[in-house]
Amino acid sequence: MSELNWQAVDAYLAPRLAPHDVALESALQRSAEAGLPAIAVSPMQGKMLHVLARSIAAESILEIGTLGAYSTIWMARALPEGGRLVTLEADPKHAEVARQNLAGAGVADRVELREGPAIDTLPLLEAEAAGPFDLVFIDADKPSIPAYYEWALRLTRPGSTIVVDNVVRKGKLSDSESRDPAVMACRQLVEQLATDGRVAATVLQTVGDKGHDGFVLATVLG
Ligand code: SAH
Ligand code: DHB
Ligand code: MG
Repeated sequence: MSELNWQAVDAYLAPRLAPHDVALESALQRSAEAGLPAIAVSPMQGKMLHVLARSIAAESILEIGTLGAYSTIWMARALPEGGRLVTLEADPKHAEVARQNLAGAGVADRVELREGPAIDTLPLLEAEAAGPFDLVFIDADKPSIPAYYEWALRLTRPGSTIVVDNVVRKGKLSDSESRDPAVMACRQLVEQLATDGRVAATVLQTVGDKGHDGFVLATVLG
């Protein structure tokens, strides 16, 4: 199997199981026009987050790392009436584009975008008792992943789900010699999960539009 096969399979699946409507399409287009990096989750990954949120009947979702709100829209659309999503974004330009995309998708009423470095906004969420969140999606700066994981645990309850994007990193996760700060952070998270009695966790490797990568999938225990 090559990267070409993975893309062909996503090209087959995505139009069927994760078709873009105008809002998702314009979200990506507006993001590209504004010069945002093309690093959003793929359509099939967006649909995965959507199915996951629905399968746990998530009413409150926290996202760390908004970019142009592509993943945000997928998850917000899984919320029931009255459900709420808080998304954290450090870059004011990304936040501005995300706000337009959320409005364009008709989910601005359900989504609260908080601007600023997540390490500053996460303690504010705790101080406000904004949690517990049913689902946390960690997808911001990779070296901070271990810190965000600890915050996710503070802001969740037994039964909540925590997802962390981009932990396999084209297989670099298995390289114990790597000095790449992102790889080191992902390995640190895995080592933490290995002995962490607070969660049951696994890593789901993925291939497709975005190459070889993977998600941490964790459920918070009682
Ligand atoms: N979840 C998005 C992609 C997020 S990309 C999607 O799949 O559609 C990562 C985002 O995290 C970028 O927009 C980046 O600006 C943001 N980010 C980087 N460092 C951050 C920090 N310290 N706090 C909050 N957001 C941060
Ligand atoms: C990068 C970040 C992401 O969240 C992602 O899904 C892919 C790439 C990056 O920073 O390169
Ligand atoms: Mg990501």
